[in-house]
Amino acid sequence: MKSESPAEKKKPDIVIREMEIDDLPSVYHLGERLFTSEDLPILYRTWDQYEVTDYYSSDSDYCLVAEANGIIVGFVLATTIEKEGTAWKRYGYVAWMGVDESFQRRKLGRRLYKKLEEELLEDGVRMVIADTEGGNADAISFFKAEGFSRRSEHVWLAKTLQRSAKKAAKRKRAQVASPETGERAD
Ligand SMILES: CC(C)(COP(=O)(O)OP(=O)(O)OC[C@H]1O[C@@H](n2cnc3c(N)ncnc32)[C@H](O)[C@@H]1OP(=O)(O)O)[C@@H](O)C(=O)NCCC(=O)NCCS
Repeated sequence: MKSESPAEKKKPDIVIREMEIDDLPSVYHLGERLFTSEDLPILYRTWDQYEVTDYYSSDSDYCLVAEANGIIVGFVLATTIEKEGTAWKRYGYVAWMGVDESFQRRKLGRRLYKKLEEELLEDGVRMVIADTEGGNADAISFFKAEGFSRRSEHVWLAKTLQRSAKKAAKRKRAQVASPETGERAD
């Protein structure tokens, strides 16, 4: 019988399985660590608990997790989009996916995506769409490695909104007049 090397012994068994209701907090917290505003400063989509609960309640078949020794170390949340009048009518959409940093480049992303793809294919989907920030080189390399090609370039524009000087002055005056209330004057 072939004996395992010490490195092989240390590797935990990682299972890819459908997400369950008890996994929701772990998936949310893993996403919080991965989708940080430092790395993705102008996040065009916001990671919050509703993303996890909404995808799970509407498309649980397309929500998968990777579990190592009882700990969630990766996930994919996806859905399908119906578009009448288009070539494929029903598209798969990978909304969020992430793998714990210490488990990256160990083919977990690939295993999660492949399982999702099998589910989508079984359900009649023939094209899958994924999107990510233009600067997210890791994700772009990953999706390319999984056979995705760049279809179109989205440009996201941002504008910081500022209060008018008149309103700011009015607020300041109100604060000076009643400093103890701290009430906003607008
Ligand atoms: C994108 C992500 C999910 C990939 O997961 P992963 O488990 O590390 O990916 P895999 O090990 O399955 O990689 C499969 C292939 O994709 C490519 N790839 C993955 N990560 C890469 C990277 N950082 N740089 C270059 N190529 C990469 C490689 O070709 C790799 O095969 P190889 O290791 O044999 O070269 C992971 O980097 C991640 O969680 N990133 C942060 C969150 C994020 O940006 N999510 C995507 C947008 S929602």
